[in-house]
Amino acid sequence: MKLDVVLGLQWGDEGKGKIVDVLAGNYPVVARFQGGPNAGHSLHFEGKSFVLRSIPSGIFRKDAKNIIGNGVVLDPITFRKECENIEATGVPVKERITVAKKAHLILPTHRLLDAANEAAMGKGKIGSTLKGIGPTYTDKVSRNGLRVGDVLAPDFADRFRKLKERHVRMLSQMQFECNPEAEEAEFFAAVEYLKQFELVDCEYYVNKLLEDHEILAEGAQGSMLDIDYGSYPFVTSSSTACAGACIGLGVSPSKIGHVYGIFKAYCTRVGSGPFPTELFDETGEKLRKIGNEFGAVTGRPRRCGWLDLVALRYAVMLSGVTDLIMMKSDCLDTFETIKVCTSYKVDRVETDQVPFDTYAHIEPVYTEFKGWNADLTGCRQESELPKEFTDYISFMESYLGVPIRIISLGPDRDATIMR
Ligand code: IMO
Ligand code: MG
Repeated sequence: MKLDVVLGLQWGDEGKGKIVDVLAGNYPVVARFQGGPNAGHSLHFEGKSFVLRSIPSGIFRKDAKNIIGNGVVLDPITFRKECENIEATGVPVKERITVAKKAHLILPTHRLLDAANEAAMGKGKIGSTLKGIGPTYTDKVSRNGLRVGDVLAPDFADRFRKLKERHVRMLSQMQFECNPEAEEAEFFAAVEYLKQFELVDCEYYVNKLLEDHEILAEGAQGSMLDIDYGSYPFVTSSSTACAGACIGLGVSPSKIGHVYGIFKAYCTRVGSGPFPTELFDETGEKLRKIGNEFGAVTGRPRRCGWLDLVALRYAVMLSGVTDLIMMKSDCLDTFETIKVCTSYKVDRVETDQVPFDTYAHIEPVYTEFKGWNADLTGCRQESELPKEFTDYISFMESYLGVPIRIISLGPDRDATIMR
């Protein structure tokens, strides 16, 4: 059977949680393969709302298994809080979640290092979510990290102390004032909680499941935050494109089936870094208000702008997207004119490619569409969609070379049109 992948194609916050929750109905297994509690995947159903951080969005589906893969970085403290919240609603989380032993652990001192690094960068800071993501992946790559499977070792406390002391030395070199012990007791209690879950060799576990189950891999963040292909250095520290699912779960590329790429009908970004179509005027303000564009993790207002098809086509290429999913087009219902960026002028030279230089001056070149001026939120069938809207969709499909299979017109599970 195949591993289908769902990815965010922009700067995160595309609506992955809702779509995975909708698609999870068709998949017996949902797996996260990268990122960590920097993600905030929002789900709304039956009048309830949840924000998931490390837990896969299949958790509310009765028969779905949920895997936290080896490419993920897991914070036992956040994970426990998240699980207990959901457990309180009657969901048997311990039966539904399996964790890879090779996933790396976020220590409380990783979060302190994240804050210290950002403080040291001053104005040039990344705008990290401060969840310890960068320092944990750094320890993984520099071969200092601790992994979930290590919690079972008799000398885990010693290994923890060794890594913590390394972090304390770094923090004092950076003259960062903090109490590195503040969350230690909570961390060890959360590690005991984590031990109650099934901890597995993810690569064997996933490949065995694939013999007779389809699996949905749920990406976090978005292609433009990818460590290699995003707007470096303003990126996250993991591979957010499709190839990351292979590494993050231990699965061969030949097993990949559909690649679902999610994008919003406009763009948002939280944190620093280039954003060619960003709007600083009342149109941007209106998008933020209608789209309720405030961070699910940090509460920060998101920067808003028009849809960037140059960046989107780049993301489609990187991941071999087979099916596009468009979110939040209903947020454009009241705009007279809708713009999409179809090329860039980089230092006055026109191009349809994303430039290497993150700091280059990029001027977006727009194609304009007449707004549909109609309420899309009630539409449940393609035939109910206004012509201006379907023309706009056709334009995007021909620019991107991939069909738009799902259109989401509101946060609820049922506000979804399948094409
Ligand atoms: P979901 O999965 C939006 C951004 C941060 C920052 C940069 C690096 O909800 O789409 P990090 O904490 O990863 O070191 O921060 O990446 N960022 C996200 N932006 N949605 C996310 O996740 C994000 N995860 C990280 O704002 O600019
Ligand atoms: Mg987010």
